[in-house]
Amino acid sequence: LFLYSKISTFSRIIKMDTKQLKDHVGQIVTLKGWVANRRESKTVVFINLRDGQGMCQCILGLEDLGEDLFQTAKTLGQESSIALTGKVVEDTRQIGGFELHATDLKVYQNAKDYPISNKEHGIEFLIDHRHLWLRSRRQWAIMRVRNCITYAIHNFFQGQGFVQMDAPIFTGNAAEGTTDLFETDYYGKPAYLTQSGQLYGEAMALAMGKIYTFGPTFRAERSKTRRHLSEFWMIEPEMAFCDIFENMDTIESFLRSVVQEVLEKCPDELKILNRDTSNLETVAKKFPRLSYDEAVEILKGNQDVDGKNTLITIEEDIKENAARIVKIDEDIAQREAAIAAGGMKKGVINFNQNKIDTLKQELKQIEEDQRNLPQWLESARNFEYGNDFGGSDETVLTRLFDCPIMVYDWPHEIKAFYMKRNPDDPRFARGVDVLAPEGYGEIVGGGERETSEEWLVEKINDHKLPMDVFQWYLDLRRYGSVPHSGFGLGLERLVAWICKLDHVRETIPFPRYYGRLEP
Ligand code: 4AD
Ligand code: MG
Repeated sequence: LFLYSKISTFSRIIKMDTKQLKDHVGQIVTLKGWVANRRESKTVVFINLRDGQGMCQCILGLEDLGEDLFQTAKTLGQESSIALTGKVVEDTRQIGGFELHATDLKVYQNAKDYPISNKEHGIEFLIDHRHLWLRSRRQWAIMRVRNCITYAIHNFFQGQGFVQMDAPIFTGNAAEGTTDLFETDYYGKPAYLTQSGQLYGEAMALAMGKIYTFGPTFRAERSKTRRHLSEFWMIEPEMAFCDIFENMDTIESFLRSVVQEVLEKCPDELKILNRDTSNLETVAKKFPRLSYDEAVEILKGNQDVDGKNTLITIEEDIKENAARIVKIDEDIAQREAAIAAGGMKKGVINFNQNKIDTLKQELKQIEEDQRNLPQWLESARNFEYGNDFGGSDETVLTRLFDCPIMVYDWPHEIKAFYMKRNPDDPRFARGVDVLAPEGYGEIVGGGERETSEEWLVEKINDHKLPMDVFQWYLDLRRYGSVPHSGFGLGLERLVAWICKLDHVRETIPFPRYYGRLEP
């Protein structure tokens, strides 16, 4: 017993990760990870160690480490894998709030010429190196937010008594139209990768009351947009004895709960992403509910929202941007002239050069907006009643709101075959889309399902779908048909909005979209 306690007091080295440092100040611990960054002076090497959980600055002094290990430390390339043993010291100025004063170093592999450096890389280069890009700080933060969202989704539904169930991925029928199906060979017969688990979700809801699926879905989207992937993850709840209005209540409390959980659990990640969280806190408000007809009036500028008009807002933005471009050009020219005039201290030159780079970045963004805005204006002004909203229409509409909006009662011709018709006005189908603010647009599509076998048969024929593969689905209307509703949330679109990303390709570890299958 005596021997044991001696060993544990004097020679126990605690292996841990950077998230646990706060409980071990003053103790000797071992951290294992990768060299995110290394700087050195004559007698000290500074390493920013990245271990997946977080970061820690490690100080490797010549005296503490000895000559050999110190020389080794000086050769470590970015992303070398190492273990460092040393004392934990509190230092609130450092990332993570702690430092490790190292006394021992073990090298697993000394990496040379890591392809991703701190300088700017083009997006294609980064996507080609996605397997490595995932290690960078921004990507790390996005993946942690995605994880938190997934957890929050399960939390919400499990807390409400929903049963999680899985829909098949090989299917014999199309759920969401036949134009974007991926066909595969299934023992000599054609099968399609699922576009949506919904039809199976309906069968499961009639067995279990309320269910949700959480799985991959596939759509052959032959265009590159910032919102479309070929493979994406969808969450599809389905509820028996539920109409479109109860469905909207569920969507609203669901989205509110998920966003609030992320705000609570991921403040550090959102900070790394420079996310202005005040634009997410607005989910606490009641989500405005607009009929398709009202939404069209607003889009076309015939109706204002709190004194704001879509068309006037865009025209003002174009003017403001033009003025800002002039200002930025002047600012850049002045700073360049001042540098060229000479006599400036090196620090001041650097400061000005950084400022010029930032201004050029801003300029690029504004110039892109200036190309888009006139097109958006045209498309909103000329929107034809009866059409589906395009990406830019959603952007124009949602820029007037600061929280998600729900658009319901769509012209039935543009919605899927399974949508219930509004009994009071059968021109409309009881579908609902949720559009995220800040220009993000559709993140959820759902609605109430048709219950009548007769109407469904007619719709399946209208859509020229093969009747035989829908017999099982029609059984759900033959045996105990009830009003039921549900919706589908695109996980990547929610991640993009919460993290305020330009494109969904950064929201998933390995994106699949038109023209991209690797890595
Ligand atoms: O609006 P969609 O097509 O609806 C359905 O599939 C219904 N069956 C859902 C249901 O009621 N159970 O797709 C639902 C959501 C969209 O709102 C969007 O967020 C996402 O799925 N989505 C995509 N996300 C990324 N890339 C794509 N190509 C997407 N297509 C749809
Ligand atoms: Mg949709």
